[in-house]
Amino acid sequence: MGPVRASHIDERGIVARFEAKTRKSAELYRRALEVTPGGVMAGIKHFEPYPLFMKKADGSHLWDLDGNEYVDYLLSYGAIILGHGNRVVKESVESVLDTYGTTVMGTPTELESDYGVVLRDMYRPDGMIRFTNSGLEATLLAVRLAKGHTGRRKVAKFEGHYHGAVDHFLFSYTPDVEKAGSQESPTPVGDSVDVDGGLLSESVALPFNNWKATERIIEANSKELACVMMEPFEEGVIPGDHEFMRNLRSLTSDHGIPLVFDEVKTGFRVRPGGASEYYSVTPDLTCLGKIIGGGLPIGAVVGEAEMMKQLDPRKGNRRKVFHSGTFNGNPLSLSVGMATVRELTRKGRFEGLLRKTESLKQMVAGELTSHSLPHDIEGEGAMFNIYLTDKKVRNYRDAKASDLRLRRLIDMGLLASGVYLKPENRYCLSLAHSNDDIRQTGEKFGGALDALAS
Ligand SMILES: Cc1ncc(COP(=O)(O)O)c(C=O)c1O
Repeated sequence: MGPVRASHIDERGIVARFEAKTRKSAELYRRALEVTPGGVMAGIKHFEPYPLFMKKADGSHLWDLDGNEYVDYLLSYGAIILGHGNRVVKESVESVLDTYGTTVMGTPTELESDYGVVLRDMYRPDGMIRFTNSGLEATLLAVRLAKGHTGRRKVAKFEGHYHGAVDHFLFSYTPDVEKAGSQESPTPVGDSVDVDGGLLSESVALPFNNWKATERIIEANSKELACVMMEPFEEGVIPGDHEFMRNLRSLTSDHGIPLVFDEVKTGFRVRPGGASEYYSVTPDLTCLGKIIGGGLPIGAVVGEAEMMKQLDPRKGNRRKVFHSGTFNGNPLSLSVGMATVRELTRKGRFEGLLRKTESLKQMVAGELTSHSLPHDIEGEGAMFNIYLTDKKVRNYRDAKASDLRLRRLIDMGLLASGVYLKPENRYCLSLAHSNDDIRQTGEKFGGALDALAS
């Protein structure tokens, strides 16, 4: 096959092929539009021309309403790591109902300490943990702990980093580059109309992987910063330079600014001990989510004991950060999460997952090269993303400058041939992905590029 040339692509034909195979999803989408804004319960689930509605999952596979079968690389945005419907998960759900006779009691249970110790020992052995019900609740709790601890108001985060639908962090996630100032001094840009002047005056945007500029901005704001928040791998995949991460840790320590790692994507996916294991850098607070619930809703903050003790509700605590939640630490999420972590960390499991991920990366890279498409593949552990660019992607602006239209069209072609990931999203793998899945995906990737070249 010849090279893929963006200008020659029959975009309409690619979308028409997708639409022809997914009529029932289109039908249900029209109904959903009547019920909920945009037909989706979370903005992230939308894509053009309409999202696919799934009806069943098993292992590494999904089936949509029209009966099309897919190899799943979305895995609920990385939350599923054993594969769908794993036996251990099913048994764990049953065991909660058998043991407790219910799904939730609103009281402490043994599981909270049992699982809490497992996560604490992996992420902050001398620290403490608090469970929440989602990643966004974890990042929200982290920023409130940081504010309580420092008595400061400003929040710094990196351009292009996502921390959930929390107003403190809904700036400079996907800014229009024209409105976002220079690379060296990014202007905080709200991602949502409710994030306006008031909040933005307490927001500081930082350029990832640009140490000189990051150092200058943090120093200029050091007396007012409650925390520096970051995805230690941007979008879960773009690493910080080791030196950048070490410098950031020491600068924030020097100024008494809590450093928060948002490991909702990277926890148990980049390494079992997350990005902090990869970099050997310990933040003050770590936010976890996704995998630690094994497919059930969850979040957690693990961190430095004195900061965490602000949550102590007992009378003697004079510097209290209020925190509560009906479903915090519910037995179902904890039991399934703990069973998942136990399974994933059995000898050889994570290593096997890394090998499979590596082999898919190589196949995809081989296909892109043989179709003369410049590319950069970023990601550690069981997750990666593909950027169509001739430059190494090190931050948001590099990613934004890659060929996103071509990427979306490749992904639409993959959907039509039975490979599921939300267009332009990253690839996540699970223990259930077989060597056959990987081989077939590599071939289908080649096929999607052939279709664009023809
Ligand atoms: C890095 C990061 N932080 C926070 C969140 C929010 O987590 P949740 O969707 O569970 O609220 C996400 C979700 O994708 C995330 O990727």
